[in-house]
Amino acid sequence: MNTDMNLAPGPLDSRTIISFNRVSLAYKDQDALSEVSFNVTNGEFMCLTGPSGAGKSSILRLISMDAFPTGGQVRVRGMMSSKMNRRKIPQLRREIGFVFQDFRLLEDRSVEDNVAFAQLVVGVPHKRIAENVSRVLNNVGLWGKRHRLPHQLSGGEQQRVAIARAMVNSPKILLADEPTGNLDPRTAQDIINLLFRFNDAGTCVIFSTHDHEIVKSFGRRVIVLEDGRIVSDKQRQGIVDRSVNLADRMYRADLDAAASREEPAHA
Ligand SMILES: Nc1ncnc2c1ncn2[C@@H]1O[C@H](COP(=O)(O)OP(=O)(O)OP(=O)(O)O)[C@@H](O)[C@H]1O
Ligand SMILES: [Mg+2]
Repeated sequence: MNTDMNLAPGPLDSRTIISFNRVSLAYKDQDALSEVSFNVTNGEFMCLTGPSGAGKSSILRLISMDAFPTGGQVRVRGMMSSKMNRRKIPQLRREIGFVFQDFRLLEDRSVEDNVAFAQLVVGVPHKRIAENVSRVLNNVGLWGKRHRLPHQLSGGEQQRVAIARAMVNSPKILLADEPTGNLDPRTAQDIINLLFRFNDAGTCVIFSTHDHEIVKSFGRRVIVLEDGRIVSDKQRQGIVDRSVNLADRMYRADLDAAASREEPAHA
């Protein structure tokens, strides 16, 4: 069924980067989403929450166009779900970074090779890859551990590698599906703070979580889903002072270490 006819596409606000217009997603025997509508502004930082099965992952998959709506229209950076074809998918994927709960790193490759791989697959020249990998590993505070294999890192560090890999192509949008699901509360907050920093630098970030503590302290927009529908969409007031946190301290320590490498002490 062509649902376009039911929609008035109309011009979107020029700052809208993602738009869901009465989006439904049905699997064979299951409605995952029912008539979900929301817009996301360029540079926004948003949290999706709700019980298991509410449709959080489905929304993220629709944004990356890993899934297509069975009703309504998804638009991402001017690309419309109803008009997507295979040729346009690589272009979209270059503009979106994706982070998963279980990290999904290549276990037999070093930290830096995991991150470099994301650049190789989109054809970035080798010299630029080295620069970009070093920049993004410094950003996540892991330059010093670049030669390690994933199993030689903590869970929080592995997730930071995954975030570095998602960010190395400088995507406009970072999607993170339960990025803190396998981490202890302190490490989880560090990961959220790291996402804040990429958001401060201009990336639109959308993440999903079950974690009430994170939702409570998240002073930005929170969409609550239940049974495939939006039941609340509000800006929240945060209660955590994110100016002082572990990730920032590590980041600064890594920057200092990088600076001292550039200016070697003379004997
Ligand atoms: N491939 C699939 N085939 C059939 N049903 C599916 C499929 N993927 C998801 N669903 C169903 O769609 C609904 C929404 O699933 P979704 O994964 O989006 O939920 P979620 O909010 O991410 O849940 P969780 O918190 O457990 O990750 C659920 O009822 C789920 O069972
Ligand atoms: Mg999910």
